[in-house]
Amino acid sequence: MKFFIDTANLEQIKEAQALGILDGVTTNPSLMAKEGITGHDNILKHYKAICDIVDGDVSAEVVSTDFEGMVKEGEALADLHPQIVVKVPMIKEGLKAIAYFTEQGIRTNCTLVFSVGQALLAAKAGATYVSPFIGRLDDISTDGLVLIEDIRTVYDNYEFETQILAASVRHTMHIVECAKIGADVMTGPLNAIEGLLKHPLTDSGLEKFLADYAKGNS
Ligand code: E4P
Repeated sequence: MKFFIDTANLEQIKEAQALGILDGVTTNPSLMAKEGITGHDNILKHYKAICDIVDGDVSAEVVSTDFEGMVKEGEALADLHPQIVVKVPMIKEGLKAIAYFTEQGIRTNCTLVFSVGQALLAAKAGATYVSPFIGRLDDISTDGLVLIEDIRTVYDNYEFETQILAASVRHTMHIVECAKIGADVMTGPLNAIEGLLKHPLTDSGLEKFLADYAKGNS
């Protein structure tokens, strides 16, 4: 499973990259705003800065909601850097834009996906990635992981090449469960990723090893 970090914070991206496990980055307009990145030129500059830190795919989201606007924005984003994947919302115009980008060889991430039907449409339009938002489903008492399982089944039934990018991951167990189901990618915050490191037996075991070493070498 590929690991993407879901942030526009350059320090956190650097930290995840330094762990040696980072395969890419996802951003969205809310994450950009959270970092205080506003204005078209600054946003483009920031995407470039992210691409300079990581080797993998960087999702950059369009903010138009009509086909022509999405195409114009998406083409400019794709021209920015070869690592850019154009992130397009799962709406009718977005679906048309994904099909257009697919024909042009521009890679896409279909975002704001909350149902198997939507994921099926994204795959048929040729999306590179589909982003089901599991945390936001959990927020409304619907098991987001079940959606990942169902999309996996449907994609496997028809050998769709669209990669399932489990998004809106909120905690460490989401990551573990996504890996068990067979999501192709997960995107989550740094603290959820670093949570995978933790085990009390690792900490107590290391403490004992270091104490025994100190005894023998003092
Ligand atoms: C995915 O690409 C989205 O940016 C993100 O995962 C949404 O997460 P949230 O529901 O925590 O805002």
